[in-house]
Amino acid sequence: MASEINTVGVIGLGTMGAGIVEVFARGGCTVIGVETTTPYADRGRAILQGSTDRAVAKGKLDKAGQQQILDRITISTQMADLAPAHLVVEAVPETIDLKRAVFGELDGIVRPDAVLASNTSSLSITQIAATTAHPGRVVGMHFFNPAPVLKLVEVITTLGTDPEVTASVADVAQRLGKKPVVVGDRAGFVANYLLFGYLNSAMRMLEHGHVSREDLDTAMRVGAGLPMGPLTLMDLIGLDVCDHIGEVIYTHSRSPLHAPSAMLQQLVTCGRTGRKSGRGFYTYAKAGGAQVVADDDTPAPGEPRELRAVGVVGTGALADELVARLTEGGYAVTHADDPSDLEPLADVGLVIEAKEEAQEEVAGDTGDVAGQGSDADELFARLGEVTAPGTVLATANSYSAAALAARSGRPEESAVLRMHAPTGNGQVIEIGRTVATSTVTVDTLRAVVTAMGAEPVVCRDRTGLVVDALLVPHLNDAVRMCEQGYASVADVDTAIQYGLGYPMGPFAMIDRIGADEVLAVCEELLTGTDGFQAHLVPSPLLVEHVLLDRPFTG
Ligand code: CAA
Repeated sequence: MASEINTVGVIGLGTMGAGIVEVFARGGCTVIGVETTTPYADRGRAILQGSTDRAVAKGKLDKAGQQQILDRITISTQMADLAPAHLVVEAVPETIDLKRAVFGELDGIVRPDAVLASNTSSLSITQIAATTAHPGRVVGMHFFNPAPVLKLVEVITTLGTDPEVTASVADVAQRLGKKPVVVGDRAGFVANYLLFGYLNSAMRMLEHGHVSREDLDTAMRVGAGLPMGPLTLMDLIGLDVCDHIGEVIYTHSRSPLHAPSAMLQQLVTCGRTGRKSGRGFYTYAKAGGAQVVADDDTPAPGEPRELRAVGVVGTGALADELVARLTEGGYAVTHADDPSDLEPLADVGLVIEAKEEAQEEVAGDTGDVAGQGSDADELFARLGEVTAPGTVLATANSYSAAALAARSGRPEESAVLRMHAPTGNGQVIEIGRTVATSTVTVDTLRAVVTAMGAEPVVCRDRTGLVVDALLVPHLNDAVRMCEQGYASVADVDTAIQYGLGYPMGPFAMIDRIGADEVLAVCEELLTGTDGFQAHLVPSPLLVEHVLLDRPFTG
């Protein structure tokens, strides 16, 4: 094996390949980029020029620095030009036959001590390595899009990979300023395996009409604090690539969590492959651009009812927070801290139930909220009597909108209002609606949430609404990956934080939220979701950490 990796070949100069070329050239390596045809080679050159131009325009790189980077790169259409490379990274389209053909050909070209790496997102490195005469020198070297920005490099080893090869690839990744995580060969590796379960669940919510595409993305970007919403991210990755990776992971897991989405396949078949084609879940101003433009699915602005006065029922932290935020939002707030005296609410346009005792009651038995005789039932019935017709009724507790509607006798005006803790991207308040909740009720609540300085997300009132229903199973999946011994807590956290740009890894998130809270939501989702979903079963490792009151990190 070459003592040091200084000359690097990259095969395939699409988005990922060109990004990888840039990373190595920025790291001081001499890079030979290879494409099949001159037009593809030109496209690769244009990606490199555009990316480094952007850095110059942002003042991150001067012209001389840009020239130095570009001077380290040679672009060719001849595989034979890879002969001097110490390391060759393959980044051709995700087809096992194509990849195997490339690796087979490389054997006759490269030096005997060259390391051969594949940037495959999910295909088996073992299968690729088996094509070559020296499988010991083959590894996965998996970069994340945009490669110049995201720091994770997954280094994937097979049973036959020479440990020195692994060490040298991890070492070169570190020299490039990346964070290598070394793992064995399994479909989707760490980051994509965890990412695609979550993306698939998000897509299923859209497909089932649970939430609009815009609100889905807001829920996860703002409510969960992720760098982008799931649909925006899929448009960035490419829907064809997502479809392919999803299929490979499903073949391995056979979990309904990864079952292919008909909607995704239809979008791909129609050529709606995401940003690169100018149309995916969203429509873009131009192919390859990031600017979203309105299309037929863009929601029309709402027509909220004018509200001046709002009532809040209950005592405790939630009620106080609501009173303060509504007052800041410009509403005249009537705080009914004694639920037996609701008369002052007769003239308000919206009443939000936020009774502290109610939370305890729900914690005891969520399924029986509309049951006879509970405090909440009585309160909801009284709200229906006391308030004027047309008054919007919302519960900020864990009751269902249907229970509120049934007891108050105001199905059109009833909804759930769930406040989330702020994240680095702002704050979300979810609005859960039933089939009976009217559009004007939803529009009015949207306007109230906006006036409170938060971002509204409207969805069907189902367990976990959007944020919890997507985030918590995603976290549980990460715990299960450790439970199965595939990757350590530290490796999973590094992979997700540096590969997907999350503000912190899933275990750090669990510790921040509280493992007990994550477990409680997981259990609620398991019982509250239609049909048995094995992936919602809490990982025994999560349960163990809760029982032992032991954090995962730190
Ligand atoms: N190439 C080079 N640089 C880029 C870039 C690109 N395509 N896109 C953004 N950048 C740079 C910007 O120049 C900017 O740099 P500075 O901070 O030095 O100025 C920085 O990235 C941030 O960009 P923006 O301010 O334009 O936008 P942002 O803050 O919204 O970040 C983002 C954009 C980096 C894409 C961020 O939203 C993010 O990290 N999203 C998550 C992306 C993700 O999950 N990727 C992994 C997908 S899975 C995968 O790739 C594996 C696979 O196998 C499919």
